[in-house]
Amino acid sequence: MKLVIGNDHAAIEMKNEIKEYLEGKGIEVIDVGTNSPESFDYPISGYRVGKMVASGEVDGGIAICGTGVGMAIAANKVKGIRACCCSDTFSARMTRAHNDANILTFGERVVGQGLAMELVNAFLTTEFEGGRHQRRVDIITKLEQEENNQ
Ligand code: RB5
Repeated sequence: MKLVIGNDHAAIEMKNEIKEYLEGKGIEVIDVGTNSPESFDYPISGYRVGKMVASGEVDGGIAICGTGVGMAIAANKVKGIRACCCSDTFSARMTRAHNDANILTFGERVVGQGLAMELVNAFLTTEFEGGRHQRRVDIITKLEQEENNQ
Protein backbone atom coordinates (compact mmCIF):
# COMPACT_ATOMS: atom_id res chain seq x y z
CA MET A 1 0.00 0.00 0.00
CA LYS A 2 1.13 3.50 -0.85
CA LEU A 3 -0.40 6.62 0.72
CA VAL A 4 0.08 10.36 0.49
CA ILE A 5 0.04 12.50 3.62
CA GLY A 6 -0.20 16.27 3.89
CA ASN A 7 -0.37 18.84 6.67
CA ASP A 8 -0.03 22.51 7.49
CA HIS A 9 1.91 24.21 10.31
CA ALA A 10 -0.81 23.25 12.82
CA ALA A 11 -0.29 19.51 12.39
CA ILE A 12 3.43 18.81 12.00
CA GLU A 13 3.78 16.63 15.08
CA MET A 14 0.67 14.58 14.36
CA LYS A 15 1.62 14.18 10.69
CA ASN A 16 5.05 12.83 11.64
CA GLU A 17 3.64 10.43 14.22
CA ILE A 18 1.06 9.08 11.77
CA LYS A 19 3.70 8.80 9.07
CA GLU A 20 6.02 6.86 11.35
CA TYR A 21 3.16 4.62 12.45
CA LEU A 22 2.19 3.82 8.85
CA GLU A 23 5.77 3.23 7.75
CA GLY A 24 6.15 0.88 10.70
CA LYS A 25 3.32 -1.15 9.22
CA GLY A 26 5.18 -1.39 5.92
CA ILE A 27 3.08 1.25 4.16
CA GLU A 28 4.92 3.59 1.81
CA VAL A 29 4.07 7.20 2.64
CA ILE A 30 4.68 10.19 0.37
CA ASP A 31 4.81 13.38 2.41
CA VAL A 32 3.59 16.49 0.59
CA GLY A 33 3.14 18.58 3.73
CA THR A 34 5.38 20.94 5.62
CA ASN A 35 7.89 20.35 8.42
CA SER A 36 8.51 24.04 9.04
CA PRO A 37 6.79 25.89 11.89
CA GLU A 38 6.34 28.82 9.49
CA SER A 39 2.72 29.44 8.58
CA PHE A 40 1.75 27.17 5.68
CA ASP A 41 -1.56 27.63 3.88
CA TYR A 42 -3.63 24.47 4.26
CA PRO A 43 -5.32 24.65 0.80
CA ILE A 44 -1.95 24.05 -0.87
CA SER A 45 -1.35 20.87 1.07
CA GLY A 46 -4.95 19.64 0.80
CA TYR A 47 -4.92 20.19 -2.93
CA ARG A 48 -1.57 18.37 -3.33
CA VAL A 49 -2.97 15.36 -1.46
CA GLY A 50 -6.09 15.46 -3.65
CA LYS A 51 -4.14 15.65 -6.91
CA MET A 52 -1.92 12.74 -5.96
CA VAL A 53 -4.86 10.53 -5.01
CA ALA A 54 -6.83 11.49 -8.12
CA SER A 55 -3.83 10.65 -10.34
CA GLY A 56 -3.88 7.07 -9.06
CA GLU A 57 -0.23 7.24 -7.98
CA VAL A 58 -1.27 6.29 -4.45
CA ASP A 59 -4.00 4.19 -2.88
CA GLY A 60 -5.37 6.94 -0.68
CA GLY A 61 -4.58 10.04 1.32
CA ILE A 62 -4.48 11.52 4.78
CA ALA A 63 -4.54 15.27 5.34
CA ILE A 64 -4.19 16.92 8.74
CA CYS A 65 -4.51 20.56 9.75
CA GLY A 66 -5.79 22.31 12.88
CA THR A 67 -9.35 21.10 12.43
CA GLY A 68 -9.14 18.86 9.34
CA VAL A 69 -11.96 20.90 7.86
CA GLY A 70 -9.95 23.15 5.56
CA MET A 71 -8.00 20.16 4.23
CA ALA A 72 -11.24 18.39 3.29
CA ILE A 73 -12.63 21.49 1.58
CA ALA A 74 -9.43 21.98 -0.45
CA ALA A 75 -8.97 18.31 -1.38
CA ASN A 76 -12.60 18.04 -2.46
CA LYS A 77 -11.97 20.65 -5.16
CA VAL A 78 -10.07 17.99 -7.09
CA LYS A 79 -12.17 15.94 -9.49
CA GLY A 80 -12.65 12.40 -8.25
CA ILE A 81 -11.86 13.21 -4.64
CA ARG A 82 -14.12 12.23 -1.79
CA ALA A 83 -12.37 13.60 1.29
CA CYS A 84 -14.03 13.32 4.67
CA CYS A 85 -13.14 15.07 7.92
CA CYS A 86 -13.67 12.65 10.82
CA SER A 87 -13.33 12.94 14.58
CA ASP A 88 -14.95 9.60 15.42
CA THR A 89 -14.16 6.07 14.29
CA PHE A 90 -17.75 5.30 13.24
CA SER A 91 -17.63 8.07 10.63
CA ALA A 92 -14.12 7.05 9.52
CA ARG A 93 -15.44 3.51 8.87
CA MET A 94 -18.70 4.56 7.28
CA THR A 95 -17.15 7.06 4.93
CA ARG A 96 -15.22 4.16 3.42
CA ALA A 97 -18.10 1.66 3.54
CA HIS A 98 -20.79 3.97 2.15
CA ASN A 99 -19.08 6.95 0.48
CA ASP A 100 -15.97 5.24 -0.89
CA ALA A 101 -13.97 8.15 0.55
CA ASN A 102 -10.41 8.26 -0.74
CA ILE A 103 -8.99 10.83 1.67
CA LEU A 104 -9.31 11.02 5.45
CA THR A 105 -8.79 14.35 7.15
CA PHE A 106 -8.72 15.30 10.82
CA GLY A 107 -7.43 18.00 13.11
CA GLU A 108 -4.46 17.99 15.45
CA ARG A 109 -6.33 20.59 17.55
CA VAL A 110 -9.40 18.33 17.69
CA VAL A 111 -8.31 14.73 18.18
CA GLY A 112 -5.57 13.24 20.35
CA GLN A 113 -2.82 11.03 18.98
CA GLY A 114 -4.50 7.79 20.13
CA LEU A 115 -7.78 8.63 18.41
CA ALA A 116 -5.92 9.78 15.30
CA MET A 117 -4.34 6.31 14.97
CA GLU A 118 -7.74 4.69 15.41
CA LEU A 119 -9.26 6.94 12.75
CA VAL A 120 -6.48 5.96 10.37
CA ASN A 121 -6.91 2.26 11.14
CA ALA A 122 -10.69 2.41 10.73
CA PHE A 123 -10.32 4.21 7.42
CA LEU A 124 -7.64 1.93 6.00
CA THR A 125 -9.20 -1.38 7.01
CA THR A 126 -12.74 -0.73 5.77
CA GLU A 127 -13.78 -1.76 2.28
CA PHE A 128 -16.37 0.10 0.21
CA GLU A 129 -19.59 -1.92 0.31
CA GLY A 130 -20.72 -1.10 -3.24
CA GLY A 131 -24.31 -2.08 -4.14
CA ARG A 132 -26.77 0.74 -3.45
CA HIS A 133 -23.87 2.84 -2.20
CA GLN A 134 -22.21 2.60 -5.61
CA ARG A 135 -25.31 4.14 -7.17
CA ARG A 136 -25.09 7.08 -4.78
CA VAL A 137 -21.37 7.58 -5.34
CA ASP A 138 -22.11 7.50 -9.08
CA ILE A 139 -24.62 10.32 -8.56
CA ILE A 140 -21.91 12.37 -6.84
CA THR A 141 -19.54 11.72 -9.76
CA LYS A 142 -22.23 12.75 -12.26
CA LEU A 143 -22.98 15.94 -10.33
CA GLU A 144 -19.27 16.71 -10.26
CA GLN A 145 -19.06 16.28 -14.05
CA GLU A 146 -22.07 18.56 -14.55
CA GLU A 147 -20.50 21.22 -12.32
CA ASN A 148 -17.23 21.02 -14.26
CA ASN A 149 -19.08 21.44 -17.56
CA GLN A 150 -20.77 24.67 -16.48
C1 RB5 B 1 -4.53 27.23 10.81
O1 RB5 B 1 -4.53 28.18 11.83
C2 RB5 B 1 -5.91 26.60 10.67
O2 RB5 B 1 -6.81 27.51 10.16
C3 RB5 B 1 -5.84 25.36 9.81
O3 RB5 B 1 -4.92 24.48 10.34
C4 RB5 B 1 -7.11 24.56 9.64
O4 RB5 B 1 -7.70 24.28 10.87
C5 RB5 B 1 -8.05 25.03 8.64
O5 RB5 B 1 -9.10 24.42 8.38
